[in-house]
Amino acid sequence: CESKTVKEARQSVRKFPDRFQFGTATASYQVEGAWDADGKSPNIWDHMTHTDPCSIDDCRNGDIANDSYNQYKRDVEMMRELGLDFYRFSLSWSRILPTSFPDKINEAGVQYYNNLINEMLKYNIQPMVTLYHWDLPQKLQEMGGWTNPHIVDWFSDYARVAFELFGDRVKNWITFNEPREFCYQGYGTVTKAPKLNIQGVAEYMCAKNVLVAHAKAYHIYDKEFRPNIGGTIGITIGALWYEPETENDVQLAEEVGQFEWGQYAHPIFSKTGDFPPVMKERIAAKSAAQGFKRSRLPEFTPEEVEIVRGSADFFGLNHYTTNMVYKNESLNGYYDVPSYYDDMEAKLYQPNHWSAGASFWLKDVPWGFYNLLTKITEEYDNPPVFITENGFATRGGLDDDDRITYVRGYLNALLDAIEEGSNIPVYTVWSLMDNFEWMRGYTECYGLYEVDYESPQRTRTPRKSAFVYKEIVRSRALDP
Ligand code: BG6
Repeated sequence: CESKTVKEARQSVRKFPDRFQFGTATASYQVEGAWDADGKSPNIWDHMTHTDPCSIDDCRNGDIANDSYNQYKRDVEMMRELGLDFYRFSLSWSRILPTSFPDKINEAGVQYYNNLINEMLKYNIQPMVTLYHWDLPQKLQEMGGWTNPHIVDWFSDYARVAFELFGDRVKNWITFNEPREFCYQGYGTVTKAPKLNIQGVAEYMCAKNVLVAHAKAYHIYDKEFRPNIGGTIGITIGALWYEPETENDVQLAEEVGQFEWGQYAHPIFSKTGDFPPVMKERIAAKSAAQGFKRSRLPEFTPEEVEIVRGSADFFGLNHYTTNMVYKNESLNGYYDVPSYYDDMEAKLYQPNHWSAGASFWLKDVPWGFYNLLTKITEEYDNPPVFITENGFATRGGLDDDDRITYVRGYLNALLDAIEEGSNIPVYTVWSLMDNFEWMRGYTECYGLYEVDYESPQRTRTPRKSAFVYKEIVRSRALDP
């Protein structure tokens, strides 16, 4: 007969629901390399890292990265070692369409993705494909990129090509990865390519165009492809949890959430087809006070509202950490220049005692994940939430106990949210392996597998966390 402690331990194991799916993720620019191979044209990250190399911490780039373009069989072998249900990766627009338009399909680039997808399917690992993970063709940037409304059609044409090429085998599609991050950091500041730095204006133009482009791609899939091939399509939104500093900051923290991720979620999932009311009102008032003749936040036309609302089968969520929020008193009223953080009227910070890894912004706060999941469930009437990224950065080495603690803590929080009624069928670790990190280059390591960047093959070696994740995937359970 079982001893009391063994019995207790067995009973305390937390099972994941039947059909729960486990995966890992990467993105094209971060792992593929082969930046100019076989007809691929440059994207904005190639351009930025070649013209301004030290905008990246270690002055390095993704020219070779993990060489996944050539090492894809090893990547699939790692997926098999982990026992994954699916693998999330992104397509490089400029590899498939070197002119950016559908007039010329680059067969060699298509072959790479066919090879990867077919190799995965051989072992019953499902592809989850992101159409856009930040690597815009440089030519399109020269025409204004995501601030040019014509990009809605350019993106829809690219999406249709991707559905035609891979839709027979890919059943889960994501239009965009984290639009706030590439719109705000790329168009509002100099943090990411294309470093446009027109804050308080350009990030909102980008946001609107991305939302309409997403919606168009969704409807193309829904009408032209789904009836014959099935499948689902959604969008991935990056969202932190915002915790009020004091009771007086509760409303403010709510508003910060509306700015930071409601900006993208509200138009699609609230069924209004429009930006959150707090954004519309606040930005219109500030714009008027600053002398603008119209709000810096663009308006959707009635036709756009119609296509944006409800345009997702699932809410893709990338979640990493939590921030504390308090009132931005120092601004004391209106700025005389537009600023996103002034629009938001808040300051954010993370207490020093929260445990951190290698990344300055990423602290291990699992209760914030639980709060966010239950908030999304309530706010948008319980949509399916696919966790499309969650992970932790270290400085390297195979003993990554911090990552193990982080993943286990966040999975426990996820199970708590499921117990409370959230609909979460998918969890994805960022990342399958170390890769080129935006801005940080190769100085931060997110991988379950370590990558040796000195070796020509970019040798991949499992970390301790890979064995722990493998066991979670195998047992479909977590012992708290
Ligand atoms: C997510 C991105 O925001 O965070 C990934 O989707 C990225 O592409 C990851 O690698 C880690 O971010 P960072 O800023 O630490 O490189």
